[in-house]
Amino acid sequence: MPALVLLGAQWGDEGKGKATDLLGGSVDYVVRYQGGNNAGHTVVVGDQKYALHLLPSGILSPGCTPVIGNGVVVDPSVLLSELSGLNERGVDTSKLLISGNAHIITPYNVTVDKVTERFLGKRKIGTTGRGIGPTYADKINRVGIRVQDLYDESILTQKVEAALDVKNQVLTKLYNRRAIAVGQVVEELLGYAEQIEPYVADTVLVLNQALEDDKVVLFEGGQGTLLDIDHGTYPFVTSSNPTAGGACTGAGVGPTKISRVIGILKAYTTRVGAGPFPTELFDEDGEALRRIGGERGVTTGRDRRCGWFDAVIARYATRVNGLTDFFLTKLDVLTGWEQIPVCVAYEVDGKRVEELPYSQTDFHHAKPVYETLPGWSEDITKAKSFSDLPKNAQNYVKALEEMSGAPISAIGVGPGRDETIEINSFL
Ligand code: GDP
Ligand code: IMO
Ligand code: MG
Repeated sequence: MPALVLLGAQWGDEGKGKATDLLGGSVDYVVRYQGGNNAGHTVVVGDQKYALHLLPSGILSPGCTPVIGNGVVVDPSVLLSELSGLNERGVDTSKLLISGNAHIITPYNVTVDKVTERFLGKRKIGTTGRGIGPTYADKINRVGIRVQDLYDESILTQKVEAALDVKNQVLTKLYNRRAIAVGQVVEELLGYAEQIEPYVADTVLVLNQALEDDKVVLFEGGQGTLLDIDHGTYPFVTSSNPTAGGACTGAGVGPTKISRVIGILKAYTTRVGAGPFPTELFDEDGEALRRIGGERGVTTGRDRRCGWFDAVIARYATRVNGLTDFFLTKLDVLTGWEQIPVCVAYEVDGKRVEELPYSQTDFHHAKPVYETLPGWSEDITKAKSFSDLPKNAQNYVKALEEMSGAPISAIGVGPGRDETIEINSFL
């Protein structure tokens, strides 16, 4: 059996955690392949609510092996505190596997993230401040520290020296900060080594063997398509590839193994941080979406920017990810609107465009062209099948499906595991 990818089709926070958790009971492995603790995945199981940042959402399903792939950036202190937080709540985390090739977010990467943002002033990206960009920059610059380096003190010291060589010049001379001592960083990192060691594994080998043995592997994306470093709204993006191809590089699994790519799609749109957002609302509707949808960041506590559904973005996500299905989330949040506008195209400098403009300038100028669909007022949170939905809600879903270019195979009508309408099975 196959490998499935589950990823965000918009700007993150689409409900990936809930969707992953829902499938977690039926899959053997759940793998994070990119990003780090910039993610905030909320999972609601019964009356328990979990906020996961670095750990794969599959960690809450007892039969499932959670894996942190080579493409992830790992902050060891966050990892250990997330694990102990779950242990305190009775969650068994002993099956976790972490790639020895995953890069470590060091304390200086976090410092550089914060000072860079401050230096950028009003041009800032609005990062989560977790050191994500600087850690990936070190990886690409070949001065990164990997999980396996924690087990060779001499190599670790040399690598930290190499990484701090230039950084300390920049920190002291450009940013007016104190230099960071190599010894202090090495000591801190070595302090985590022993606790992490039991989890470290050759995850590429493990996952490929699992696939050969017909196990089911689910790759769980962090962030979303429009935050992708290559395919997102650059430079207002994260520093990794949440898009489907990232699952292959970030876990060491070939594209021929992947049989299904599920895009998680919110029934409206949100974004955290800076950058263009054509359907953003600055009025009472935006405020109502934020309030009803509980649109506040799980990681940074920032209010999320809110707007109507954007079909241009959904089509784009279908294309760049090769989506086979959508999981539409938070349909219940739209209950009560008499009319619901949906963006079907953009107007860019007086011309109608159907697809996402590749030019950043054009995208910044894009104005939404709306079609208005009739809303519904009935409570839909108890709906178990598509036919339980009011006619107008059914028509809203069908319209989104038609515009977005892939079948909607599941619909979220509430945050809980069971508040889901399954249309086509994912497995
Ligand atoms: P993620 O980062 O993609 O995992 O999403 P977040 O957890 O950051 O944000 C999604 C929020 O919506 C969480 O609070 C979820 O509990 C909640 N959620 C997920 N699906 C649904 C749904 O269908 N309806 C409602 N009302 N809430 C949902
Ligand atoms: P999940 O997995 C929403 C955004 C930040 C910022 C940009 C770069 O919960 O969907 P970074 O710290 O990654 O360098 O910040 O990306 N961002 C997210 N927005 N959901 C996320 O994760 C995000 N992770 C990063 O707000 O705009
Ligand atoms: Mg989130």
